[in-house]
Amino acid sequence: MREYDYAFYTESADYLLSRIPRRPEVGLILGTALGSLAEGVEEAVVIPYAEVPNFPVSTVDSHAGCFVFGTLEGKYVAVMSGRFHYYEGYEFRQLSAPIRVFKLLGVKTAIVTNAAGAVNLSYEPGDVMVIEDHINFHGASPTRGPNVKEFGPRFFDTDEMYTTALRTLALESAERRGLMEHVHEGVYFYYPGPQFETKAEVRAIRNMGGDATGMSTVTDALTAAHCSLPLLGLSLMTNMATGASKSGERPASEFDMSAVETGAGRMEEIIRDVIRHL
Ligand code: HPA
Repeated sequence: MREYDYAFYTESADYLLSRIPRRPEVGLILGTALGSLAEGVEEAVVIPYAEVPNFPVSTVDSHAGCFVFGTLEGKYVAVMSGRFHYYEGYEFRQLSAPIRVFKLLGVKTAIVTNAAGAVNLSYEPGDVMVIEDHINFHGASPTRGPNVKEFGPRFFDTDEMYTTALRTLALESAERRGLMEHVHEGVYFYYPGPQFETKAEVRAIRNMGGDATGMSTVTDALTAAHCSLPLLGLSLMTNMATGASKSGERPASEFDMSAVETGAGRMEEIIRDVIRHL
């Protein structure tokens, strides 16, 4: 098997750099329901993941599976429309590729979005959570295996993983846009899926301090902390987590699509405002 060494990632990045006019400043990874931001990118260069050497390919139907490079709010950005999840069958190490490639492209700020189930009973579908921190009781790390020292040290800190300055900026953006009633700051609980949580698991997550639960993002955040890439994580509450619904027992898979669309609009407003103010 090919080793996940520095050259492995530089082959992906060098190919992308050969196709784009300049280095991106901002890298965005868009989760479920948030692909529309990619459509707003001006002078877009679209590159399917399948064309990028060594890059994984997305298997989720609702994820587009391509890079979109171009200008958003005056900044040159790299957007990953569609991401990779552990439940698709990837190894954890493969999930380090997006952030490491961003780093090699010259990205200075990563913005990562996801769809999540609300565990905090004061949240509602359509609300946005600025990720303050995460809990990863699954335990695995995308940096497990031989350390790629060009990216960072074997042992690394996680206290600034969800970068304070970017969280502050996101909350200021929400305030500026009059969205604070629907925006929270909270803890993301990583649940590998693909099944939704049991009711007992959701109670346990709440007791442990989780505010929302989802199946992505922590791999990106850990990889970013390892290579010292500042990161902002935003979760869109698509549903109340199992057993957390106030209107009786709704299954987690029953998304209120109008709330999701409203929430996606809020998230997009915040992201655009953050990029403008970077
Ligand atoms: N649980 C886990 N992941 C999710 C959920 C959920 O309820 N909703 C969207 N992604």
